[in-house]
Amino acid sequence: MYKLSEKEHLTILAIESSCDETACAVVRDGRTVLSNVIATQIEIHRRFGGVVPEIASRNHTLAIENVVREAMQKAGVTKDDIDAIAVTYGAGLLGALLVGVNFAKALAYAWDKPLYAISHVKGHIAGNYIDSDLEPPYLCLLVSGGHTAIVRVEDYENITLIAQSRDDAVGEAFDKVARVLGLPYPGGPEIQKKAREGKAVYDMPVPKSNGLDSLYFSYSGLKTFVINLVHKLEQRGEDLPICDIAASFQKCAVKQLIDALKLVSEKTGVKKIAIAGGVSANEELRSRADELKEAGCEVHYPKPIYCTDNAAMIGSAAYFAIKCGKAPADLSLDAKATVPLQ
Ligand code: KG4
Ligand code: ZN
Repeated sequence: MYKLSEKEHLTILAIESSCDETACAVVRDGRTVLSNVIATQIEIHRRFGGVVPEIASRNHTLAIENVVREAMQKAGVTKDDIDAIAVTYGAGLLGALLVGVNFAKALAYAWDKPLYAISHVKGHIAGNYIDSDLEPPYLCLLVSGGHTAIVRVEDYENITLIAQSRDDAVGEAFDKVARVLGLPYPGGPEIQKKAREGKAVYDMPVPKSNGLDSLYFSYSGLKTFVINLVHKLEQRGEDLPICDIAASFQKCAVKQLIDALKLVSEKTGVKKIAIAGGVSANEELRSRADELKEAGCEVHYPKPIYCTDNAAMIGSAAYFAIKCGKAPADLSLDAKATVPLQ
């Protein structure tokens, strides 16, 4: 019987619609991106200060056909060149996911192609395989709007959770702190911009960890600290030193991540490290992660465009899943708001 996993080259059309980006990409052999189209809804949600789920779903519905057509056109492929369809089935906003899942199902049915259901988090991790030669096993720091975790990527399909956040995700903290500083959504890139012009003069809390067994992340204390600082300054009628607060927050938020990554690398002896997820686009995090090279670590992070939500990472994850023998989904595939990390 013909087996997709045995084919020499695989061209995958991937769709991602888990939040506020409608995305489609064509990816060859997991590491080469032929096209990567992203229709962002950031401007639409900005006036609400965050993503409004129903508005996101409706805008995915409006955008998805054009996004898929453009991705095919830019890649210079027709349906006959496509070996499989991949789609993010979770985690994310249910209504948003359903748009991508149903479009992918319709394509798979109409074109008679196998359909692969990919987890968003595994997609973020796979962003590191694009244009790179990274191979498991390695440690991955997962930092997005929904996750803050260190996992050990055992192979292309299996990951083991080592530590995660007890409360807010780091991206969520960036977004909330930006909001109290009066900066637009999404907060991460805005804080980064302001931080460039500021000095980290405020001493902010960084939770300390005693060892690997009790390792965790926590961002609610840091977020509350900034909220209280802003209220105090406002009550005194002082101008907000936005750039200094942004620089101080970013420094502490990143320090927590780097301290944990160092500890895990030292204790486990794993020196191959990758970072993934929207916050991995952060320049302070990337340059602090580079410091780990001094301790003999190999440090990987995706190009910024593959850090935040995109479909190329989903196409890459699907390629490696197929090579590991993952079975295709059937047309009853459902979207899931949450998906376990491991
Ligand atoms: O991976 P992503 O696009 O969506 C989720 O899966 O959550 O991550 C979005 C998060 C947002 O919280 C956003 O503020 C943050 O990533 N982010 C950043 C930067 N770019 C995006 N945080 C810090 N610095 C950045 N440059
Ligand atoms: Zn994401």
